[in-house]
Amino acid sequence: MKILVLNGPNLNLLGTREPEIYGRETLADIETELRTTFPEVEITFRQSNSEAELITWIGETRGVFDGIVINPAAFTHTSLGLCDAIKAVSDVVPTVEVHLSNTHQREEIRHKSLTAPACIGQIMGFKGFGYTLAMRAILNRLSA
Ligand code: DQA
Repeated sequence: MKILVLNGPNLNLLGTREPEIYGRETLADIETELRTTFPEVEITFRQSNSEAELITWIGETRGVFDGIVINPAAFTHTSLGLCDAIKAVSDVVPTVEVHLSNTHQREEIRHKSLTAPACIGQIMGFKGFGYTLAMRAILNRLSA
């Protein structure tokens, strides 16, 4: 099973970025946790601050990856392009959206996700552990 884990803008700063909201785990910690918990899964783990790069990576998944776990970060609330990219491959590559924080408890602008409608589901509010839950969810769907 090949899963692409994508991380959007500013998630490279996890650990020191507003730790009361996002936790103290770094992105490298989260990656290690996933690799340790799911040794049977071939995980490709990437982060970009560029919307265009994320869109390109999603568009290249067809025939290469079985599923995507994505934290689109701020692009969640702004990017129709990311939504379209996820939809464009969703017939063969399902996507689970994950957020560290519970965005519904935050500013109103964060309540809406433009990307969630293109995903099979969304997990939020469990900090880094959410990635483990998202991985479980995508594997469960793929083995159904
Ligand atoms: C986030 C929530 C977004 O609103 C924010 O812009 C992020 C991180 C989260 O994981 O909680 O960068 O996606």
